[in-house]
Amino acid sequence: MDTQKLIIALILPLLVPCSSSSFTPIDNYLLSCGSQSNASLFNRIFIGDSTNQGSIFLSADKSISLTNQNPPPDFSTLYHSARVFTNRGSYKFSMRKNGTHLVRFHFSPFKAQGFDLKAANFSVLVGGNLVLRNFKPGKGTPLLKEFILKVESNSLEIVFRPEGDSGLGFVNAVEVFSAPDDLVIDYGTKLVGPSGVEEYKNLSSQVLETIHRINVGGVKLTPFNDTLWRIWIPDEEFLVIKDAAKPVVSTHTPNYQNGMATREIAPDNVYMTAQEMNRDHSILASRFNITWDFPVAPGGVRHLVRLHFCDIVSPALNVLYFDVYINGHSAYQDLDLSSLTFHELASPVYVDFVADSDRSGVIQISVGPSDLSGDMRMNAILNGAEIMQMVNVVDSHSHVVTRKKRLWILVGSIVGGIVLLFIIVAFLLTLQCRRKKKKKPRQRTVESVGWTPLRVFGGSSLSRMSEGTAFPSPGAYGYFGLRIPFTDIQLATNTFDRSLIIGSGGFGMVYKGVLKDNVKVAVKRGMPGSRQGLPEFQTEITILSKIRHRHLVSLVGYCEENSEMILVYEYVEKGPLKRHLYGSSRDEPLSWKQRLEICIGAARGLHYLHTGFAQGIIHRDIKSTNILLDENYVAKVADFGLSRSGPCINETHVSTGVKGSFGYLDPEYFRRQQLTDKSDVYSFGVVLFEVLCARPAVDPQLDREQVNLAEWALEWQKKGMLEHIIDPYLVGKIKQSSLKKFGEIAEKCLAEYGVDRPTMGHVLWNLEYTLQLHENEESEQEMEPELYDDANDVHGSVNVTTTIVPGNPSSNIRRESDSDNGYSDMSATQVFSQLITNEGR
Ligand SMILES: *[C@@H]1O[C@H](CO)[C@@H](O)[C@H](O)[C@H]1NC(C)=O
Ligand SMILES: *[C@@H]1O[C@H](CO)[C@@H](O)[C@H](O)[C@H]1NC(C)=O
Ligand SMILES: *[C@@H]1O[C@H](CO)[C@@H](O)[C@H](O)[C@H]1NC(C)=O
Ligand SMILES: *[C@@H]1O[C@H](CO)[C@@H](O)[C@H](O)[C@H]1NC(C)=O
Ligand SMILES: *[C@@H]1O[C@H](CO)[C@@H](O)[C@H](O)[C@H]1NC(C)=O
Ligand SMILES: *[C@@H]1O[C@H](CO)[C@@H](O)[C@H](O)[C@H]1NC(C)=O
Repeated sequence: MDTQKLIIALILPLLVPCSSSSFTPIDNYLLSCGSQSNASLFNRIFIGDSTNQGSIFLSADKSISLTNQNPPPDFSTLYHSARVFTNRGSYKFSMRKNGTHLVRFHFSPFKAQGFDLKAANFSVLVGGNLVLRNFKPGKGTPLLKEFILKVESNSLEIVFRPEGDSGLGFVNAVEVFSAPDDLVIDYGTKLVGPSGVEEYKNLSSQVLETIHRINVGGVKLTPFNDTLWRIWIPDEEFLVIKDAAKPVVSTHTPNYQNGMATREIAPDNVYMTAQEMNRDHSILASRFNITWDFPVAPGGVRHLVRLHFCDIVSPALNVLYFDVYINGHSAYQDLDLSSLTFHELASPVYVDFVADSDRSGVIQISVGPSDLSGDMRMNAILNGAEIMQMVNVVDSHSHVVTRKKRLWILVGSIVGGIVLLFIIVAFLLTLQCRRKKKKKPRQRTVESVGWTPLRVFGGSSLSRMSEGTAFPSPGAYGYFGLRIPFTDIQLATNTFDRSLIIGSGGFGMVYKGVLKDNVKVAVKRGMPGSRQGLPEFQTEITILSKIRHRHLVSLVGYCEENSEMILVYEYVEKGPLKRHLYGSSRDEPLSWKQRLEICIGAARGLHYLHTGFAQGIIHRDIKSTNILLDENYVAKVADFGLSRSGPCINETHVSTGVKGSFGYLDPEYFRRQQLTDKSDVYSFGVVLFEVLCARPAVDPQLDREQVNLAEWALEWQKKGMLEHIIDPYLVGKIKQSSLKKFGEIAEKCLAEYGVDRPTMGHVLWNLEYTLQLHENEESEQEMEPELYDDANDVHGSVNVTTTIVPGNPSSNIRRESDSDNGYSDMSATQVFSQLITNEGR
């Protein structure tokens, strides 16, 4: 792929020098509609369309000037009046300049003189282009619609046409002004799709509707801060994993260069802030992407994706190389901003891409380190993003639709065919695996099901062009397919009947419930009234909505009404694993085979979290209460995503910066406050011993040396006498080889240093092998899979630094010792267990 050859959009030098503070459009019309006086918004004067100066633009005999008698006090006077069209009506503006223009409409419906503007349903044509079709402008909060299009005539007509039963159209304000020549140009644009990157010509002929305009890593910018009076909003709510990104701010104004981006492309503030890879507190693997999901119109709708860059993070030229992906497709490889900006740091550039939305209505943008960047300098940045939909302007749209439909059917049958083929291949592979009874367990993990799109985007009226406090809150966005009305949840849980409580956690109470369609669910209700965990809540929804896996508890829906935060999960019949291992309600002890299958299932779920579709998710709170069993004793890992949420009620939790549960917590994470997926591996090791010994991870009632299961079991494991401490029920029921292997796996998981622990993938394969050993005596003679054969890879990708733990000098020396015999030095674990026994009471 010759993405390297991509040309950055070269901008013709402006007539005005860069230092000039503002841009003056040649054509510039601002109308306050239905008003007899001028109104002002962000220091711009909008001329009343019923004044002498304004009325010349209007040609609509039967239109009505409507004034809101009771305007909300915080609304600009611009929104106190509206022009109402009961018939086709129009504004006409003479044009002095050919080329790109911006057209904006302000809609703020109200009720007056018998008209209810909220009921309006109308279409809008700009220069003959149908830009809004059967449009219903929202709920009463001002809504801004912006279109960017080429005008090549001496006049521009804007038509309002009432539709349907309402017979009403309206508008509060209209802006028409000419854009700088270089705002949209016809070269340097790249079409990004599954088949690679190709040139996209003819961009300037498209009618564009602004859907998102984002100041990445920065604050909201208003028309005060932008020479084209645009609004830019922060990016946080679109980040798929918030912890992956870290905002950076520069205090120096950008070095604008001739032929590059200008202040009219994006204001200073956009280029002075960015998000970079958050490598300090990385909860992720050492290489990861920063990813944003932007909701847009679903189903292959074409969009312009304009990305803004300015290297405000590098200490020197040519040290930052990163890759850009759109919808998971490579869009730009090894992007080196230094070489694009004539070798100057902090110089603004932008790149235009064209891409289609996916079927669920998302444009996904990712930036991540390039293979060219060394481990020390690994970084990736983004300063700004604009997403504009290419509007299908054809008025009679029937033939276009049928062609698209036909295409979808074609695509559908191809995809269907591929899926079928895949299933057949997977089936054959499984058969083969079974027959050979081992080797390559890798291929058996085929079952990880892809994500079924559940989200439905509510249409273009959700444009994010909000301004002021009067505009809809960010929460208004979302994954509407998953939204469950509060009343349904009340019904399902008998209004949060206390007798239906099945658990409690850091997030709040968990209730059992039955939805209207008889689906059993677990309803997790955040503390009512407290919106503290809102960001986590939104992260959880974003992440969970994408995850569907047999061994992960899936999200059925959520509710955000009445300042409630409620997550609705599938109900997992037999509840937490812990309950089946020990304690009062242990009905019938699980067999060894069942226990192994449960561990294998949970390992598979975790492995998927670490490496699968939404890769890089660290659970952070693996324990036997977070592994649930369904009616067939299939393990499902619960509670991922939210595990980062605020203060914990559960007293076994640490409520400091380190999250997790006592007894399961990775000592390395505890010391270094740095989380990797190996922290989950540690916790999983504790669960393995819990499964084997049927006792809690921490039991303060026991003798001192037995309180901490991990320590105690490791001692016996190293003595080779693990069978002395196993669940009495299992005595004599486990094959020696199987027990030995199991003990080895658990021991490896509990290695003091993350780099010495296996990946979940290896844990999984070795557990499967353990099961085979138990089931089939002959297999012992067959070749044993290499334990943790990628230990070296692990060393390569994890930042191995020797940390000196205060008061524990020997942990330093421990790094050089042979890892197989590492537990002769117990001091670090002893320090750790001290903490546990002191605080864990
Ligand atoms: C409205 O603004 C226009 C242009 O700035 C000005 O010529 C006109 O006098 C103003 N009209 C009123 C009623 O203030
Ligand atoms: C704009 O272009 C159209 C057609 O190309 C032409 O008729 C018109 O005169 C041009 N207007 C200006 C102001 O250049
Ligand atoms: C608006 O009018 C069109 C045309 O009659 C109709 O198809 C559409 O359903 C109406 N939309 C709403 C939301 O009422
Ligand atoms: C560019 O696109 C416009 C509108 O889609 C179309 O009318 C025109 O023919 C196209 N021009 C070229 C050179 O493809
Ligand atoms: C945006 O403009 C307003 C008004 O001039 C100013 O108070 C604010 O500081 C500006 N914001 C930024 C980020 O420059
Ligand atoms: C970043 O995302 C792309 C596209 O989804 C993927 O191919 C790539 O492997 C990811 N890189 C990392 C380091 O996760």
